[in-house]
Amino acid sequence: MSLTIGVDVGGTKVAAAVVEEDGSVLAQTRRHTPADDVSQTLQMIMDAVEELVTAHDVEAIGIGAAGWIDAARSTVLFAPNIAWRNEPLQAELADKFGLPVVVENDANVAAWAEYRFGAGRDVESMLMYTVGTGIGGAVIMDGRLIRGAHGIAAELGHLIAVPDGQICGCGRRGCLEQYASGQALVRLGQAAVAHDPDSAPILGELAGGVPSAVTGPMITDAARRGDTASVGALADIGKWLGIACVDLVQALDPQVIVIGGGVVDAGDLLLDPTRASYAAGMAQRGRLPVAELRPAEMGNTAGVVGAADLARSR
Ligand code: BGC
Ligand code: NA
Ligand code: ZN
Repeated sequence: MSLTIGVDVGGTKVAAAVVEEDGSVLAQTRRHTPADDVSQTLQMIMDAVEELVTAHDVEAIGIGAAGWIDAARSTVLFAPNIAWRNEPLQAELADKFGLPVVVENDANVAAWAEYRFGAGRDVESMLMYTVGTGIGGAVIMDGRLIRGAHGIAAELGHLIAVPDGQICGCGRRGCLEQYASGQALVRLGQAAVAHDPDSAPILGELAGGVPSAVTGPMITDAARRGDTASVGALADIGKWLGIACVDLVQALDPQVIVIGGGVVDAGDLLLDPTRASYAAGMAQRGRLPVAELRPAEMGNTAGVVGAADLARSR
């Protein structure tokens, strides 16, 4: 039995797991990290991996990180929502643990897990959006994860949704990430509590009346209980996602587009509006077959499972 470790590095947490060939998780651990302190994030990765390698005989380590990774899958070049700039993660881990290390984009690893073991296991060509703090993207065509010439393909969250729109962490204006991510959702919720509290009675109560206290999970919770502004905020980001899916289909014609990430906990409150704007946008395709939209199935283990599986097939 061949075991590998998968590590999922997010803005505020590091999750790591020992994963078997069939994608099942044998052991796992987590650490919390301050979003702006890169050296601490690295230390947490080291600690988590150390804990697992001492207890299990593993052959390689895969890391999913929220940023642009070089073609050699070794360095995090840039991360819009973490302070990493040219971070040589592969060398740092390989030196310490003496094992092969593969560094990959966080959305790519999540998509790989869905493709191998989750919502895309029955198809050969799928795209994925991960809707969290940022918006991640991945393209798998004919069973291959597409990385592009420089390793940074499929940054689907940084396609322009609104020309000259909101400034984005990547430096451009109007990226989808500014309209359909968890950050965008929170901005909408905060604005409702601040400027139109009558529309957000439940959300306002959950946030103690303090706009800056609003979180994504609060919005989902309030929306489930019928809070008008919260339902509207999820519908708004869902609408933008659906429109973006239309463009992807024109470019890549996948069988399935999987939508995952924390915000998908809202279920149909997000996905119904996504499907509606997608269907409206696809009307021009007439009788042509179109990609199906599906929610992700792997939940928050997608990152560790996908990273581990990519390390195995390195
Ligand atoms: C980054 C991606 C990442 C995504 C999700 C985006 O802002 O550019 O590299 O996959 O956030 O974490
Ligand atoms: Na990606
Ligand atoms: Zn951007």
